[in-house]
Amino acid sequence: FGRRLTLLDVTDSTQNELRKLAEQGAPEGTLVIAEQQTNGRGRMGRSWVSPAGKGIWMSLLLRPPVPLPLAPQLTLLAAVALSRAIAQQLPMLEIGIKWPNDLLVGGKKISGILLESAAEDERLSYVVVGLGISANLDVEDYPEGLMDKAISLKIASGATVDRSELIAAVLEQFEQLYKLYLEQGFAPIRTLWEARSVTLGKQTELYTPQGTVVGLPRGLDDMGGLRVELPDGSTRTVYSAEVGSGT
Ligand code: BTN
Repeated sequence: FGRRLTLLDVTDSTQNELRKLAEQGAPEGTLVIAEQQTNGRGRMGRSWVSPAGKGIWMSLLLRPPVPLPLAPQLTLLAAVALSRAIAQQLPMLEIGIKWPNDLLVGGKKISGILLESAAEDERLSYVVVGLGISANLDVEDYPEGLMDKAISLKIASGATVDRSELIAAVLEQFEQLYKLYLEQGFAPIRTLWEARSVTLGKQTELYTPQGTVVGLPRGLDDMGGLRVELPDGSTRTVYSAEVGSGT
């Protein structure tokens, strides 16, 4: 991964740049990295703070030979890859994964993952994996109120992060896990994800498009959905939701 690399000073979003390349037939592993994004996107239509030179803002192209409904598995794979890379570079930090793919340190978000895919005949033709790591943001880089929920690796660890080393570690972990996924399917990824999760086993509110679900997340199903035990003892699987605070 990353052998084909576009490095930009400024762009609106690395997602848009890579989508253009994907539409032109760019191969799997193509990477776009920007120093700054003027219109970085987050999940659920939110914006993503991407100041110049302070973070890792990048998008990676995959062309997985899998049906469209399995795209969420890649989201979970990306979270495992990122968490392993950060843990390797910054072993003093304890990193947890909040379902589906937010990485937290001390309950605060340090990175985000955004998957955008295109499909043909119900199969994925490409997936643009957007990875945002708040590496070296300082307190003044955060808009009012955001630091209640988010933190940078620099603030959390007390030291400036070497972004090139971290990018190399992310690509290496990603490549390894993706190979494992293609060879053995989702099962090993699921186990790794569950081991790092901070969502499982805690009473949680999930805001799904169909309404709020309150229950005890028990694990993943084999498509990547979250299996939640409801108060009446039944199980419901959630595929898309915003995870609220544990109660
Ligand atoms: C989220 O947690 O809401 C996902 C955030 C994803 C941010 C990254 S930064 C690189 C790529 N380009 C974007 O515009 N977004 C993703």
